[in-house]
Amino acid sequence: MDPLSIRAMQSKDDAQQCAAIMATTEPWITLGRSFDDCLAVVADERREVYIAWDADHIAGFIIINMHGAFTGYIQTVCVDAEWRSRGVGSQLLQYAEDRIFSESPNAFLCVSSFNPRALQLYERHGYRVVGELEDYLVTGHSEILMRKSIGPIDDYRKRKQRQDA
Ligand SMILES: CC(C)(COP(=O)(O)OP(=O)(O)OC[C@H]1O[C@@H](n2cnc3c(N)ncnc32)[C@H](O)[C@@H]1OP(=O)(O)O)[C@@H](O)C(=O)NCCC(=O)NCCS
Repeated sequence: MDPLSIRAMQSKDDAQQCAAIMATTEPWITLGRSFDDCLAVVADERREVYIAWDADHIAGFIIINMHGAFTGYIQTVCVDAEWRSRGVGSQLLQYAEDRIFSESPNAFLCVSSFNPRALQLYERHGYRVVGELEDYLVTGHSEILMRKSIGPIDDYRKRKQRQDA
């Protein structure tokens, strides 16, 4: 499909629409996330939320965290059911990676063990499994930690310093 317009989330109404999409789909149903839980994640001002728009409809969104131990952590990627398997998730991932790799050489994400199709998508985008967090969010299911790297942090910093000099 044609590239969508992807922009930073701007309003509380956008956050509510994203939370509504998230709360009514897997994996968040199995993970027991209510609308309010999802809204708390989407509206958290420490995160960056980018929304893919198809005209005035939200096709999907991605949330990233550029702080903390795992800088460049993709917390959530979610595409509205009507827009799935048309490349929206891939466009959002690419957008998030452009943002992350402008500051850090690693992108991280977790995928639930019962979500093999999402895991395959991430593998196709170059993410590799680095660990399994057993019984992390709910009993009986793991979160699979994945990483995509464009190089060691040391090399990245030196390259940035040369570019900025
Ligand atoms: C996973 C998801 C973000 C991918 O977005 P998308 O726009 O459908 O992805 P693309 O069109 O770029 O790529 C298609 C691939 O996405 C994956 N995918 C498609 N529908 C999916 C679904 N309902 N659940 C999980 N993965 C899905 C598959 O790997 C698919 O490839 P395939 O058709 O060869 O099996 C989207 O399907 C979604 O929001 N799913 C439900 C929520 C979810 O699982 N989020 C990821 C949490 S880690």
